[in-house]
Amino acid sequence: MRHSNEAEGAEMLKALCTCARALFPKSIATCVGSCHSSASAEAEYPREAEEVAGVCETRRLQYLAGRRVAREALHLLDGPCGPLLQNPDGTVCWPDGWTGSISHTKAWCLASVARTSDCPALGIDLEETGRMNEPIARRVLLPDELDWLATSTKPFLSLAALFFSAKEALYKTVAPLMKRPVGFHDVRLSVEEVCDGFHFCAELLQPQRENRDIVSELIGKGVFCGPFCLAGFHRPVCPA
Ligand SMILES: CC(C)(COP(=O)(O)OP(=O)(O)OC[C@H]1O[C@@H](n2cnc3c(N)ncnc32)[C@H](O)[C@@H]1OP(=O)(O)O)[C@@H](O)C(=O)NCCC(=O)NCCS
Repeated sequence: MRHSNEAEGAEMLKALCTCARALFPKSIATCVGSCHSSASAEAEYPREAEEVAGVCETRRLQYLAGRRVAREALHLLDGPCGPLLQNPDGTVCWPDGWTGSISHTKAWCLASVARTSDCPALGIDLEETGRMNEPIARRVLLPDELDWLATSTKPFLSLAALFFSAKEALYKTVAPLMKRPVGFHDVRLSVEEVCDGFHFCAELLQPQRENRDIVSELIGKGVFCGPFCLAGFHRPVCPA
């Protein structure tokens, strides 16, 4: 592990695992890993190695580490093993009957997976909270969302990072389901702070009725974890 302090790295890994697993019900398995572990430097499958041949080392490590933790998560649910290749749109080509989502920072990666019979779609996102700044917050959040942030006692930029993460997770969840991708101002998030984090509800501001239902049925959750914030959305089999 190339983290400055191995014990700190192990602590962070444990904390991220706990936080990430709290985002979803038990039918969705989540695993977390370091992008700098020696294991993630080696491709497990030649076809995955081919996909990242020629990219910069940071991206190669992120790609490989993400696939490694995705396979660990599949294994937790007795899922299939094998290469997880990229679709032309950048999404992962999950095995038939399975879905999932991957996110990484420079140092950490996480992946969540589920059987499509338990969860038809999901998205997860991990962000470094400190990377948020006021111009980005004002660009990605809607006036209603900014108003809510202003009323909270929590730091504005931290909450803005959490909202950003939630929008990224939502995007990953709905991208495979919708013909037209959603933009940051196409979805309004409302949030409720609960004892173990934040619950998100989403409303699609585009007119298509079918897509509105898809978005409003999603269940979203976000948490802070040390210098990071994480968010997850999933589509339940039987919407409430
Ligand atoms: C695709 C996107 C969500 C990736 O997020 P990111 O924070 O840059 O990067 P992350 O590390 O969290 O996620 C990367 C992973 O997302 C997945 N991904 C890539 N393109 C994707 C897409 N079109 N749809 C869903 N997932 C995608 C991949 O698994 C990728 O990892 P991999 O390349 O190693 O397999 C982001 O680049 C993007 O396009 N954001 C715009 C979102 C937006 O408009 N949101 C508004 C919604 S309200």
